[in-house]
Amino acid sequence: MARAAIVTGGVTGIGAATCRALSKAGYRVAATYFKNQGDAEIFSKEAELPTYEWNVADFDACQGGVTEIAKAIGPIEILVNNAGITRDATLQKMTHEQWRSVIDVDLGGCFNMCRAVIEGMRERRFGRIVNVSSINALAGQFGQTNYAAAKAGIIGFTKALALESASRGITVNAIAPGYTDTAMVAAMPPDVLTKIVATVPIGRLARPEEIARGVTFLVSDEAGFVTGETLSINGGKYMQ
Ligand code: CAA
Repeated sequence: MARAAIVTGGVTGIGAATCRALSKAGYRVAATYFKNQGDAEIFSKEAELPTYEWNVADFDACQGGVTEIAKAIGPIEILVNNAGITRDATLQKMTHEQWRSVIDVDLGGCFNMCRAVIEGMRERRFGRIVNVSSINALAGQFGQTNYAAAKAGIIGFTKALALESASRGITVNAIAPGYTDTAMVAAMPPDVLTKIVATVPIGRLARPEEIARGVTFLVSDEAGFVTGETLSINGGKYMQ
């Protein structure tokens, strides 16, 4: 039977491209979303994939949601923690709420979702987890102490869980996308974005499908010897 995959934040951007790529590769895929019902309906219709709504920052909701999806598509063997938010502000202007919400969703969501799938993966002696980090975890970014901290936290989390999971046939990796053509990036001030794109050696934003390609590799059976790794897909920007 085809392996079952959950992609969080799976109805737009990198998440939606990942769902489509995994579905095309033959996996059974479920996408999660939170609040963006309209996007979920369009995605579900176009991609012909099921969607489920809950907040990944809510521990109990993750436990319940994973159980519900497993009933529908089978035990979860692949988890892509893609859900994330930004609340950009320089530190002197950042509110505690802006800090807390990004840490809780972007980093807390990884814990909550991994915690919900890890026991089953350990019992079945197979699992593939990919956590979506960011170039800004590696390089830092003006106005993103919250996001850079959460996304850098994901890299440490990934390495620690990879160590704990290696003997059970479970790999845990991170992807660090560069600036990608998504709604999150489109929401940036246009002048700031133009300046950033000018510093990308390849000279453009990534396409979501280019990030999804990396995820598809990391979750494949053939990637079983890759774990604890962070795969940068950033058009060469981090070299600068
Ligand atoms: N580097 C250095 N200086 C910068 C800067 C930068 N990147 N951006 C702004 N500044 C300077 C400005 O020139 C300005 O200088 P002066 O005071 O001397 O005029 C000062 O900092 C204040 O700038 P703003 O007027 O822009 O300040 P603000 O408080 O209105 O906004 C901000 C600050 C919210 C951080 C805004 O600049 C912003 O949104 N920046 C974009 C942050 C960003 O890159 N976000 C990425 C989102 S996409 C994503 O995160 C996905 C991913 O994984 C890649």
